[in-house]
Amino acid sequence: MRIKSCMEINVSNLASNYQLLKEICPNNEALFMVKANAYGHGMVPIVKFAYFELGIKEFGCASIGEALRLREEIPNGEFEVYVFSDVNLDLQEAADIYLNNRIIPVLSNESNLKYFLEQEDFRFFPLCLKFNTGMNRLGLRLDRVDEVVKLIKASGRNSIYHLMSHFSSSSLSMIKNKRNLAQKENWRELKSQLTAAGIEIDKSSLANSGAIEQKVGLEETHIRPGLMMYGPTSLLPQYSHLSCWQGKLISRLETTFINSFKVDRGTPIGYGATPCPTDGVVGIFALGYGDGFSTRYQNVHLRHGSEVGQIVGRVNMDMGQILFNNQSLEIKNGERFVVWDQEGENFSNICLESKTIPYEVFIHLTERIPKIYRQ
Ligand SMILES: Cc1ncc(COP(=O)(O)O)c(C=O)c1O
Repeated sequence: MRIKSCMEINVSNLASNYQLLKEICPNNEALFMVKANAYGHGMVPIVKFAYFELGIKEFGCASIGEALRLREEIPNGEFEVYVFSDVNLDLQEAADIYLNNRIIPVLSNESNLKYFLEQEDFRFFPLCLKFNTGMNRLGLRLDRVDEVVKLIKASGRNSIYHLMSHFSSSSLSMIKNKRNLAQKENWRELKSQLTAAGIEIDKSSLANSGAIEQKVGLEETHIRPGLMMYGPTSLLPQYSHLSCWQGKLISRLETTFINSFKVDRGTPIGYGATPCPTDGVVGIFALGYGDGFSTRYQNVHLRHGSEVGQIVGRVNMDMGQILFNNQSLEIKNGERFVVWDQEGENFSNICLESKTIPYEVFIHLTERIPKIYRQ
């Protein structure tokens, strides 16, 4: 575990992001996506804050283990937890975990659906279905709606507790992109088919961050925000003008310089002996790919105070190198280096210049970086 490097998480920013979200969609309930350790921010403390302080009552995980951890570590939380992808309903142990902990499996294939409807134990359990409207990953098939309706009715039910689908391209334009238009149309058709067949839909959700940022999918009862709650927009840079999102990063990644020295153009640096592209000062900082600071960040520009440097040479397991092309710059050993903060300039540069999506930049961070939660 590092001592002077940390990911500081400011939960007040999570609160203000949620407030902003409520201004965009005052009538929707949020099913907050906290899978993958709350996108790298620490699932349990994030859910505790979101539930107890913000009043969010529904959370989305990818795996049953994540969901169970929430139940075990927040035993007094009366929130709902959904498992989206790694459902494993065919395993008896998994079925027991859902039943005993009221964890809702999102059913996205017919074999899971049949199993669920046939089991007496699940008779009064919430039925949550996810349809494939065009993502082509998971999801019940649109050409099997009649069969799904038959199965539901044969089990004695006439309602779906939560109906879902997921956009494949919400980081692009929701208004012009043909796939998004087709998915919206498929969704509309799906709902009218189910309703015409006499199936009631208690709750429904379609929009993830990209759609919410473009105010699409807000006519459903629920939204399913993930990335935007942690700060960044999920729209690609060329579409960012379509987003109304003004969220702040809830995290700040900081480390320290552990060495620095003057260099001339051509001085070889680190593994691979990459020559420095200019004269300047190289600062060695205490973050490497062992912390989740990827080798892909080589050449990325990062601001340090009034100077902008460039990651030079290959990032290694424990440290990285940044070159400032100002030979009179003084960097002291132990000097703090804020890799990103809530202003987001460095974070955006990392994503843009390394061609890494923000989701991945967060999730890369490893346990060697302690997380500190502040209000
Ligand atoms: C089914 C589903 N809904 C919502 C989300 C949230 O997406 P985002 O983080 O883009 O808001 C995800 C995340 O991948 C998802 O898989």
